[in-house]
Amino acid sequence: VDADGRRVFDLTAQPGDSDLGHGAGTRTWGYNGAYLGPTLRAQRGERVAVNVHNRLNEPTTVHWHGMHLPAKVDGGPHHPIPPGGDYQAAWTVDQPAATLWYHPHPGERTERQVYRGLAGLFLIDETEDKTGLPHDYGVDDIPVVVQDKGFSGGQLSMDDRFLSDLGVLGDEILVNGTPGPYLDVRTGLVRLRLLNASTARVYDFTMSDGRPFAMIASDGGLLAAPYTTRRVRLSVGERAEIVVAMRPGERVELRSARTGLGVVHGGKDAFDVLQLRAAGELREGALPARLATLTKLDPQRAAQRRTFTFQGRGINGDQMDMRRVDAVVVKDTVEIWNVANGHDTPHSFHIHDVQFQVLTVDGNAPPPELSGWKDTLFLEPRRRYAVIAEFADYADPTTAYMFHCHVLRHEDEGMMGQFVVV
Ligand code: C2O
Ligand code: CU
Ligand code: CU
Repeated sequence: VDADGRRVFDLTAQPGDSDLGHGAGTRTWGYNGAYLGPTLRAQRGERVAVNVHNRLNEPTTVHWHGMHLPAKVDGGPHHPIPPGGDYQAAWTVDQPAATLWYHPHPGERTERQVYRGLAGLFLIDETEDKTGLPHDYGVDDIPVVVQDKGFSGGQLSMDDRFLSDLGVLGDEILVNGTPGPYLDVRTGLVRLRLLNASTARVYDFTMSDGRPFAMIASDGGLLAAPYTTRRVRLSVGERAEIVVAMRPGERVELRSARTGLGVVHGGKDAFDVLQLRAAGELREGALPARLATLTKLDPQRAAQRRTFTFQGRGINGDQMDMRRVDAVVVKDTVEIWNVANGHDTPHSFHIHDVQFQVLTVDGNAPPPELSGWKDTLFLEPRRRYAVIAEFADYADPTTAYMFHCHVLRHEDEGMMGQFVVV
């Protein structure tokens, strides 16, 4: 905390050597280390400042995915940090407790920079946690950053060996940068904060013995109540928090099951992700029945309706153009965005600055896993979605926020648009 009462973080994007299961000389990038970045954490209401240093040999930016903040500090492609350069982003955290993340967002280089290892979690806490959920970080509240990688000659490889329309797909899984990981569990309930920080792959998380677990949060924060399920699907950029109940002495594997997206995924499509190894005695815990009050945004309040159709590598037939603004939104209004996937490739729809609610999927009420705050939404082939969001607090007619496909190859190839809030 600095003299002005701000919580200050330092992030240095830098090259380094990692192991990643392929010997110590694997060249990677990370923030403050060789691979990935530190988990940043702040409380609702806190003022934060992040000093970013670019020690790479190419421009980068850092974008705060899921964060409600002014466009000037959003970290999009308009504000590249040159090699050797420094940059400061400062804002006031004002949104519910959530598992957010940060990653590079420079023009046309996002896929390779994230693939090399640039990503980290940004957790937001309420001033007071009244939920009773597991919250001992690293003990019963565990970050699970999931990525798929391909290797060749001991180095990360971006070869498109599965010839997928999604971009790079790896056949090895890393969790927090570790291959074949396990977790020693000492509590009856373990909370996993799942982030799909891959560049293209979709995961269908299940437990190896098929046991149900509780989903407690989506991208932007807690669900109203725990939702018991056996499967959580996360496309690129999405998060889910789940709570798994464990019995003493048992072992069970968090796994990604077959997605049914075999054609676009290519190769192997099911993976072991993280083994949970329970101790002989476990500290008891109970899952709360209620988690949060979710105020539904009222469609009647919508000041504007827009339609965005994802097809080819464009949105409404347009490729990203840094000089074109695709939507002008009036500050403090609510809008409904109808988002359609017009073809057979899956996409992942993300809006900067806001958390939205899903109103409908093909005209029907959304399933429970889409009942909470979202900033990224898997667009199944040929489906239509309606989402609603409030564009509050920050207006800046000259600086745009992005909306785009979070399949990073698609994003880099122009499946992105811009909006300003005025
Ligand atoms: Cu996670 Cu526009 O990004
Ligand atoms: Cu984002
Ligand atoms: Cu896409």
